Amino acid sequence: MGEMHVVLRHRDIPDLHDLDVYVAHGGYAQLKRAVTTMQPAEVLDIVKASGLRGRGGAGFPTGLKWSFCPRDVYPKYIVVNNDESEPGTFKDHELTLRNPHQVIEGAALAAYAIGAQAVYIYCRGEFWQEMKVLEAAVARARAAGWLGQRLHGTDYTCEVYVTPGAGAYICGEETALLNSLEGELGQPRLKPPFPAVAGLYARPTVVNNTETLANVPPIVEKGAAWFKAIGTEKSPGTKVFCLSGHVERPGNYEVPLGTPFEDLMALAGGVWKGRALKAIMPAGASSPVTPAAKLAGLPLDWERVAAAGSTLGSASFIVLDETTDMVWVADKTTRFFQHESCGKCSPCREGTYWLKQVYRRLVAGQGTAADVDLIGDIARQIDGKCFCPLGEFALSAPRSTLQLFREDYDRAAAGAAAQNGQAHA
Ligand SMILES: Cc1cc2nc3c(=O)[nH]c(=O)nc-3n(C[C@H](O)[C@H](O)[C@H](O)COP(=O)(O)O)c2cc1C
Repeated sequence: MGEMHVVLRHRDIPDLHDLDVYVAHGGYAQLKRAVTTMQPAEVLDIVKASGLRGRGGAGFPTGLKWSFCPRDVYPKYIVVNNDESEPGTFKDHELTLRNPHQVIEGAALAAYAIGAQAVYIYCRGEFWQEMKVLEAAVARARAAGWLGQRLHGTDYTCEVYVTPGAGAYICGEETALLNSLEGELGQPRLKPPFPAVAGLYARPTVVNNTETLANVPPIVEKGAAWFKAIGTEKSPGTKVFCLSGHVERPGNYEVPLGTPFEDLMALAGGVWKGRALKAIMPAGASSPVTPAAKLAGLPLDWERVAAAGSTLGSASFIVLDETTDMVWVADKTTRFFQHESCGKCSPCREGTYWLKQVYRRLVAGQGTAADVDLIGDIARQIDGKCFCPLGEFALSAPRSTLQLFREDYDRAAAGAAAQNGQAHA
């Protein structure tokens, strides 16, 4: 199976970021058709029937999420989650730089479907370039009458605002994002209430990932059946896979969901330097590692990656070759999550700190077998006790590497024992 560009259309159409080029290729026609000829419920029904699932991590059905918004409560909001802070994820970055109008049109269609008149695009704090591109795109689309007040002579208004994020991983979590958007500290909120009921400024809000929304214009144009015919029954459509790490040609590859692992790796030239594969992290730093043996012939969709013991998440494959020390991998992810823990709840704040200390000792050759056991103890005190999923995300690499690659840990602990032995000899 090869590449198929539904959202990465700019790879086939030069200068698609330019409004004129986007419009010449059918851009904003679906938004115009929707507001002038369709009821909001019709747009929602098409997206629901398409089976589109969120591309931000959890794979939640998009149309279903939209339908949770109460009909008669106003104002409502669409928030585009363009925070993209998971290590190993860089698809939304490419989409907003190279195909910004498809994201904007998708967000405006979502707004029309739920009865919102404002869209906020929350951009990762480091995305200065993306923000400039998005702001210019919104301004041009508005000046040309594709966005703004009383669209196409109807009484429907859609304004789009681009906002900078706070530069923190946790601000990708939808409720922390909403707090940050309101100018508060970016820390998660207790759920329920869910954003669909009480989100931005306590109003009904849908938060969707950038890639999710970029799928909406082609779905409205070509219909639910077209979309369902791509991918698998439960995971329809294409997905942008971000490939990084020990791979010959790192980058974004858009393929139908269900594409076998080997086909995706072949597009990227395989494992670098002709080496063998040890494992991958399929959803960036927050996902359990999946060993090479479980990847052979694996169709890449949410169900089957979960059945293989991990999560597809936002499909950010960090490829690890046979030379990779898994203690080093878990040390790196642990340091990341300790740094990014927002501090709101103590199991995550303290637990990630203690995990970091243990890994520091192990990679410095000063760890012991007792340290290896301590990892499991600390993990048990974090698991299921945190305010949001970040605490559990921090456990993915330590737990899975310890379970699957115990020999790397034994080697790390043995190194310390040898050093101690020499010191006492
Ligand atoms: C700690 C944490 C970080 C997250 N970071 C992101 C992110 O950077 N981008 C994103 O789209 N979703 C992120 N999510 C998921 C969002 O909370 C939310 O599920 C998503 O934006 C929903 O959009 P979707 O239904 O279109 O996937 C994160 C979740 C957690 C718990």
